[in-house]
Amino acid sequence: MTADGLPMTRPAPGLPARVRIHEVGARDGLQNEQATVPTDVKAEFVHRLADAGLTTIEATSFVHPKWVPQLADAEELFPRLTGLPGVNLPVLVPNRRGLDRALALGARHVAVFASATESFAKANLNRTLDDSLAVFAPVVRHAKDTGVHVRGYVSMCFGDPWEGPVEPAQVVRVCAALRDMGCDELSLGDTIGVATPGHVRDLLALLNAEGVPTEALGVHFHDTYGQALANTLAALQHGVTTVDASAGGLGGCPFAKSATGNLATEDLVWMLRGLGIETGVDLGRLTATSVWMAEQLGRPSPSRTVRALSSKDQ
Ligand code: HMG
Ligand code: MG
Repeated sequence: MTADGLPMTRPAPGLPARVRIHEVGARDGLQNEQATVPTDVKAEFVHRLADAGLTTIEATSFVHPKWVPQLADAEELFPRLTGLPGVNLPVLVPNRRGLDRALALGARHVAVFASATESFAKANLNRTLDDSLAVFAPVVRHAKDTGVHVRGYVSMCFGDPWEGPVEPAQVVRVCAALRDMGCDELSLGDTIGVATPGHVRDLLALLNAEGVPTEALGVHFHDTYGQALANTLAALQHGVTTVDASAGGLGGCPFAKSATGNLATEDLVWMLRGLGIETGVDLGRLTATSVWMAEQLGRPSPSRTVRALSSKDQ
């Protein structure tokens, strides 16, 4: 480790030069909190993330406030975030109502969120899988017609808490449907953190073979079994350059039992920095942000890197 608290840089072959981190702490992280986080705290969180160099910061969700009360302040929060130079602020939209709410506030990046399994489509969206895709199609079309960038999430790509193992063909089918609708990028969600690196490689290779290029794919790993970083490295070795992560390792999904925190952004940045891969993120500032956020939430961050770097300061 260097004197300024960073890992020694030792590049490894076959990896990208730069990775874009899609920061989900303010959305995936906070949607799962028991207590509602004040809007002021959320706004400061996003501003601090931007200040740490993150340029894609998923801000909130325009979902039904009764389903996700933690994000019911989306209308109040979103206008307080715009105008951050060079920062994109994607928001989740489950249907046309959500898209209209987001567009009314000037959102330029939205995400629809599908599932590879029937059980999670029902639990998360109150629809069958096919019905949820039918809801998304005109949403994506309208967003694209208004020049808005659209991400398509696919949850339960590696396993499902109700259905168990998920056939890769199911994931391919949903990815293809979202691409046909016009989604600009897809994010492969390991919602309950059961993926392992060989599975990640196989799924990426199958998606390529079925016509989905690696450039269109991001990865979204939850860290339930401590595999998120290993899975990310497997994805990087495959050529993926968009990685979702959550500051401090916050996160989970209220509609999927056994979903725990996302890959911590600090753990990711530590590894990428050590590999000499550019992210534009200042690890010190990011860690300070997660320590501050942990104080707001009243419990320590689960990120190993946050813990290691912050205990050194004391
Ligand atoms: P529903 O109850 O079936 O909705 O919920 P509906 O279409 O029957 O409408 C019922 C009422 O809700 C209507 O009002 C609608 O207007 C209203 P009424 O006419 O009765 O007065 N409504 C809305 N209000 C505000 N905003 C909206 C909206 N839509 C309908 N957007 C719905 C269906 C999809 C809305 C609901 O299930 C929902 O909001 N789900 C959100 C689930 C969610 O946010 N999950 C977490 C995000 S996904 C995730 O975390 C996974 C991810 O991280 C990747 C991974 O880890 O795998 C992305
Ligand atoms: Mg998630």
